[in-house]
Amino acid sequence: MKLLVTGGAGYIGSVVTAQLLEAGHEVVVLDDLSTGHEDAVPEGARLVRGTLREEALGLLDGGGFDAVLHFAAKSLVGESVQKPGLYWDRNLGESLALLDAMRRADVRRIVFSSTAATYGEPESTPILETDPTRPTNPYGASKLAIDTALAEYARLFGIGGVSLRYFNVAGAHGRFGERHTVETHLIPNVLAVPAGTRESINVFGEDYPTPDGTCIRDYVHVVDLGVAHLLALDACEPGVHQIFNLGNGNGFSVRQVIDVCREVTGHPIPVVVGERRPGDPAVLVASSERIRSALGWKPERDLHQMASDAWAFLQSRS
Ligand code: UFG
Repeated sequence: MKLLVTGGAGYIGSVVTAQLLEAGHEVVVLDDLSTGHEDAVPEGARLVRGTLREEALGLLDGGGFDAVLHFAAKSLVGESVQKPGLYWDRNLGESLALLDAMRRADVRRIVFSSTAATYGEPESTPILETDPTRPTNPYGASKLAIDTALAEYARLFGIGGVSLRYFNVAGAHGRFGERHTVETHLIPNVLAVPAGTRESINVFGEDYPTPDGTCIRDYVHVVDLGVAHLLALDACEPGVHQIFNLGNGNGFSVRQVIDVCREVTGHPIPVVVGERRPGDPAVLVASSERIRSALGWKPERDLHQMASDAWAFLQSRS
């Protein structure tokens, strides 16, 4: 297939682009490089630098594309609370421009990077796709709005959309990995200690109602996540919008993640326990039963593999 990948210079977009190329697809990456890196775009993919508003229609119209994988987004929860307008404009606004370009160019399949943040504070775990969506920040709200738009574009214009609701993505795929300028995620911050760029890891709160008092999250390897995108691409059905959670279905506490990183790196990784981070739910664990039964997806890589692949990636860059 000929595919347009938005945000293909970012962490998850670059990994999935590499996997799409390995599977024999032709890929054009559209990225404004605001947070992505030009050298993260896998060899074999053509990079077009620009925004979706500026470039999507020109590229898609008459371009012979079969489908779009849409990763481009602003994705920092804390920043979204400071600058909600930026998140509505960049996430929802740019996505609507993309959907309209698809409609005009008659490209009818899209796989979209949605998020667990659409659910907000869960009433029960594991979280099902049918659970209430009550996002607690503008990042999650903007992604939920795009899910809603996809459902409408499916119903009204026959687009086939799949929203994949990521839980906590980690790990790397060879030379493609996580390198955010502002890093908020747990695993890269923990690994920065043995890498020598941090002295210790701050644990945000140890007084949660969990066995060791730290928050529990559902970590999924970025390569397993990529496999789900390839399956989702095949599962796009004209006129239908489908939603799938993407997680392992198992929770690990912040303390457990740090222990696994200690094991992988052989470093003691000193911990400083601080205050809770505002907006962090105690437990976020996905039910991934729907994608397992509908698409036959099964996560194959455990937390140890995520930490060791992320660690190998970090070492290869130092
Ligand atoms: N944490 C620390 N110290 C750090 C970084 C994180 O203790 O330096 C803790 C957090 O408080 C949280 C856990 O580690 O309990 C995981 O935090 P991350 O920032 O790695 O991930 P989140 O669960 O906050 O965020 C993820 C996605 C978001 C998404 C969110 C909501 O990265 O995009 O889930 O589901 F919005």
